[in-house]
Amino acid sequence: MNLQLNDRSVTVAIVGCGGFIGSHLLDAVLERTRWRVFGVDLDFYRLQHRLNHERCEFLCADLASPEVVARIARCPLVINLAAICTPSRYMGEACEVIRSNYDHPATLADACAKSGSWLVHFSTSEIYGKTAAESGELFEDSTPAVFGPVTSSRWSYATAKLLAERYIAGLPGLRWTVVRPFNFIGPYMDFMPGVDGEGIPRVLANFSTALLRGEPLKLVNGGKAKRCFTSVHDAVDFLFALFMAGASESGTASGAASEVERNAEVFSQAFNVGNPENEVSIAELAAKMRQIYAEIRGVDVASLPDPQVVAGEEYYGAGYDDSMRRMPSVEKAQRLLGFRAATPIDVCLRESLTWFVKHYSV
Ligand code: UGA
Repeated sequence: MNLQLNDRSVTVAIVGCGGFIGSHLLDAVLERTRWRVFGVDLDFYRLQHRLNHERCEFLCADLASPEVVARIARCPLVINLAAICTPSRYMGEACEVIRSNYDHPATLADACAKSGSWLVHFSTSEIYGKTAAESGELFEDSTPAVFGPVTSSRWSYATAKLLAERYIAGLPGLRWTVVRPFNFIGPYMDFMPGVDGEGIPRVLANFSTALLRGEPLKLVNGGKAKRCFTSVHDAVDFLFALFMAGASESGTASGAASEVERNAEVFSQAFNVGNPENEVSIAELAAKMRQIYAEIRGVDVASLPDPQVVAGEEYYGAGYDDSMRRMPSVEKAQRLLGFRAATPIDVCLRESLTWFVKHYSV
């Protein structure tokens, strides 16, 4: 596989290129490589500045069309980021969530197995399931997954994602890598309800919205759950470490991967991508975001409304459930790719909140 960064003949497919991660990845591919991009999505609002780029071709479509899937699989590297991944939708739209997170990726995997493309499939840290507060590091290849009952529709997403991973791993002839993101944050994450989306976004956008509107931050079940928030820029760096190692496996990469174990095994692997040093409880996240927001606005934090505790099922609807802790082991990415996320949580939050205020105050 020829994936040298300066090779103009390479076209990579980014499925879900208009989303939060996809839009950051697209920018990085255009800035760091000479590759062409075939970008597929249903929504391009984050890509306004790229729509006429000479190295991009965009298609407004989803993976329901066999012609679109076949066209994507003609690219030697396919990154699939397309997914419904907002917890508030896992309850009321379980079937749609399963179609988006299992049926479509499985079809794309079939096409990549046939064409010989390298499929980099975005899964989720949620495949580790209903982790308890006292659970420790989550290891890609040894931690068991325990899910809530079928009546807890929250797990529709995780079970679909896990089945997609199993399908990909079992497909003969497919060259694949699975990425499990641990709460990526940054500019352009999710939406502001009532402005460019409806419903409840993930916690960063939800807290940012409340701060901007002068409303209390809602702590679901007291905000005791913990997450390791990870900069989307670190996530993009991980992907480049992966691309270079993948190319070097076939003996074609430049010296860029020289620090990495030669012939690192990056195919047929799942990788956690997270930042264990950034672990906070959601109540701690609220306190940090209130403080940073007060600093950005030049106001006293005591002038902001106090956070409010809400019950999960009341807030999200029947069937809501939660993982109490999600702590990634990042040893494998370090060992095989020489990658470790480096951006501290306060830096990520300040960047995200500054962007949010500027973007939505207009
Ligand atoms: C979600 C997705 O389901 C995962 O697949 C995805 O990988 C993950 O986001 C991610 O961004 O990586 P989750 O971490 O539960 O999972 O997403 P959030 O909705 O951001 O919730 C995080 C925690 O904050 C949960 O405990 C939730 O109950 C809490 N929360 C959320 C609040 O306390 N208040 C809110 O306003 C929103």
